[in-house]
Amino acid sequence: MQSPAQPVLRERILLGVGGGIAAYKAADLVRRLREVGAEVRVVMTEAAREFVGPTTFQALSGHPVRSSLWDPAAEAAMGHIELARWADRIVIAPATAGLIARLAAGMADDLVTTLCLASRAPLVLAPAMNQAMWAHPATRANVAMLVARGAMLVGPGVGGQACGDEGAGRMAEPAEIVAALSAAASPPPLLAGRRVLVNAGPTYEDIDPVRFLGNRSSGKMGFAVAEAAARVGATVTLVAGPVRLATPAGVERVDVRSAREMAEAVFRLAPAAEVFVAAAAVADFTPKLASGSKIKKSDEGLSLSLVPTTDILATLGAWPERPFLVGFAAETESVEDYARDKLARKNLDLIAANAVGGSDDAFDADDNALLLIARDGTRVDLPRAPKSALAARLVAEIAARLPSR
Ligand SMILES: Cc1cc2nc3c(=O)[nH]c(=O)nc-3n(C[C@H](O)[C@H](O)[C@H](O)COP(=O)(O)O)c2cc1C
Repeated sequence: MQSPAQPVLRERILLGVGGGIAAYKAADLVRRLREVGAEVRVVMTEAAREFVGPTTFQALSGHPVRSSLWDPAAEAAMGHIELARWADRIVIAPATAGLIARLAAGMADDLVTTLCLASRAPLVLAPAMNQAMWAHPATRANVAMLVARGAMLVGPGVGGQACGDEGAGRMAEPAEIVAALSAAASPPPLLAGRRVLVNAGPTYEDIDPVRFLGNRSSGKMGFAVAEAAARVGATVTLVAGPVRLATPAGVERVDVRSAREMAEAVFRLAPAAEVFVAAAAVADFTPKLASGSKIKKSDEGLSLSLVPTTDILATLGAWPERPFLVGFAAETESVEDYARDKLARKNLDLIAANAVGGSDDAFDADDNALLLIARDGTRVDLPRAPKSALAARLVAEIAARLPSR
């Protein structure tokens, strides 16, 4: 059982252990990370094995430990690219001067550096070295370069060193590293207590009991927005079309199938919401009449008569008291022009535009790029990134513009 004061870190952490005297402290770090809920896999440099044996890390992490790129058995199980993708964050502790230099140079000459290069997970460094090595201009430049690329530094501390020197270079204590990781994982509660409604996914418009008109939306963006809003303290309800996605933690989910069901659910829930993020790809047209029995195959072909569905956002935009409205515009061309037009026409507060259909296709992808345009005309470019990161940025932009109560 965890005490309430203890941080919680539900992350997959790849711990890279460098060849320094502080490698023994990395064993305690694994233990502490697991105590707060993290799943940990350890990779070691060859030099690290001179200091601590892999068996220690294997026993503490509960997973095999890898050191070499050239391990056919390990590559057949979880290969190094899968391991790079698996990680939510990569922590290098101890980050030796040599390892920092190789990472700064973008080298991929062993398993640890290759994983860092192959992964998009944020990098956290806990440097540990003699004070002269830490103060050296080469190390200073290497660290500055890694920080400029987004790496987070924990430590080093100042004090007595294993070599007898005094100064900066001691690895941060494992408890400090865990606290820093937990603090970075808990974003500020930007939407604490605010009620957010999100819709996501496609809709299915039935033609007959076995056929429907659908679209390619996966729901990933809307689910990421719901998750990001919940992570910053919002009370989130997610109206989901037919998708195969797990409900994000702390989010209340309402499942629907058709555009009509989607509209009914949103209109029922919107009066209680302060923000509505319309990320669903709701069908614009639906069959005028769905056949009650399966339409038989025929040589004459089949003509479907389609009628427009209710425009959910435009309807909400006309409500005298309406939530803060955020729309998505998925367009194949003139993305910004269409987005600005939709923002004005539907009386929205913010629109997130993305290109679909080309090489930058957003549908079903894990990555996307967004252009946000606000009611006052300001635009924010969110370059290509995982949908989870984009969703966090979008939620922060919403929070910054949402009128206070
Ligand atoms: C006993 C001993 C202790 C060492 N401690 C450190 C250290 O704390 N930090 C460091 O940067 N290098 C230290 N080194 C030097 C590294 O082991 C050496 O630069 C190695 O190539 C680093 O390997 P890595 O890049 O795989 O971490 C130490 C060497 C020895 C022999």
